[in-house]
Amino acid sequence: MIGNRINSSKEIIELFSRKEIDEDWSFDYLKPSDTNKLTHGYHRYPAKFIPQLVEKLLDEYITGKEAYINDPFMGSGTTIATAVSRGLKASGTDINKVAYLISKVKSTPIEPIYLDRKICEFIERLEDLEKIEPVIPKSERIDYWFREDIKIELGKILSVIYEEDDLDVRDFYLVAFSHILKNCSYWLQKSIKPTRNLKKQLPNPRELIIKQLLKMKKGNNEFYKVVPDSVKRNLKEYLNIKAGDARNQPVDKESVDLIITSSPYVTSYEYADLHQLSTIWLDLTADLKEHRREFIGISYKEYKNSEPSSKIAQEIVRKVAEKSKKKAEEIKAFFVDMEEVFVESFRILKNGGMCCFVIGNTKILGVDILNAEVEEYRRKLYRREEMRKRVGL
Ligand SMILES: C[S@@+](CC[C@H](N)C(=O)[O-])C[C@H]1O[C@@H](n2cnc3c(N)ncnc32)[C@H](O)[C@@H]1O
Repeated sequence: MIGNRINSSKEIIELFSRKEIDEDWSFDYLKPSDTNKLTHGYHRYPAKFIPQLVEKLLDEYITGKEAYINDPFMGSGTTIATAVSRGLKASGTDINKVAYLISKVKSTPIEPIYLDRKICEFIERLEDLEKIEPVIPKSERIDYWFREDIKIELGKILSVIYEEDDLDVRDFYLVAFSHILKNCSYWLQKSIKPTRNLKKQLPNPRELIIKQLLKMKKGNNEFYKVVPDSVKRNLKEYLNIKAGDARNQPVDKESVDLIITSSPYVTSYEYADLHQLSTIWLDLTADLKEHRREFIGISYKEYKNSEPSSKIAQEIVRKVAEKSKKKAEEIKAFFVDMEEVFVESFRILKNGGMCCFVIGNTKILGVDILNAEVEEYRRKLYRREEMRKRVGL
């Protein structure tokens, strides 16, 4: 935490350089079974939080039984599902519709006996896929990523999923389906870039989805036990999440007690590209290229007439521009976008509310990208009254 006396960018940079690592926030003793507990193992996600981090932040900053938690960049919904598991209200956004689907499913407890019956019926239905007409979205990307027989089998599984009328159960299946797509495709395993491996050993999609559903069923049962009855009875009251932009959240002004989030990084993960298999199969966007532009932190983005207000950010952009004008534009766009996220976060926070952004620094073309310092500087830059005027409070 940075004190209130900090004013200049130089002071902030010095303060960060003196800061020591606080071992209390190290979680390296945890096993995958700990970090994937409850619903947290439903779906892989790049730069996913571990629930223990969110739990610790809730322990630190929430004292009463009632609180309103927000995550503008939900990703796979770690903050949201953790808040719900503690009986707290939660809201959030993510521009990635796949992220929204995962967050929704991870935060929605389903009555275990009912779900068990549904899954048994579903598995039975998968036993005879012969006569089922496959549902395969028209996209050359599907032919690029999937072998013909696998594509047809996946299309049949999807067709059976769409037969389900209970939308919570259907979405549960869709998350399992989305999770297995990467393994079933030529996508080079463990690669975060869309790269093909045509020699990849491809699994049987049917076996894979059954395995995933059984794992998720276990997670749901654990989650169902911990979510308070009051939340289960009236989930809508507790869960306000949308597929949308972090800069424009459907959340009332001055309503949130605690924001817990991790932002995208500049030109690090291209989330739209990374989730293209799910986005195409689940028909989540009409135009993948247009959809990509809405993401913060992507490459090939430039804002001709905007500058970040932070002096540290301006200096970073200037240094990078000496090496690459294109990269500098991308970094500038990232800082400008993030500034708007902070303005929006400020609008929805209660007076005295807290905001925890998990962010690290990176190096691009040899220049230190001081994400943490820039954001901290911004917090001081807008004095409360100035900020209130800016967001119309
Ligand atoms: C670091 S990830 C969050 C991971 C998350 N904490 C979790 O536990 O899974 C950052 C997220 O920001 C999202 N994002 C990028 N641009 C956005 C925007 N304009 N509005 C909302 N979300 C955005 C990405 O889709 C990605 O899911």
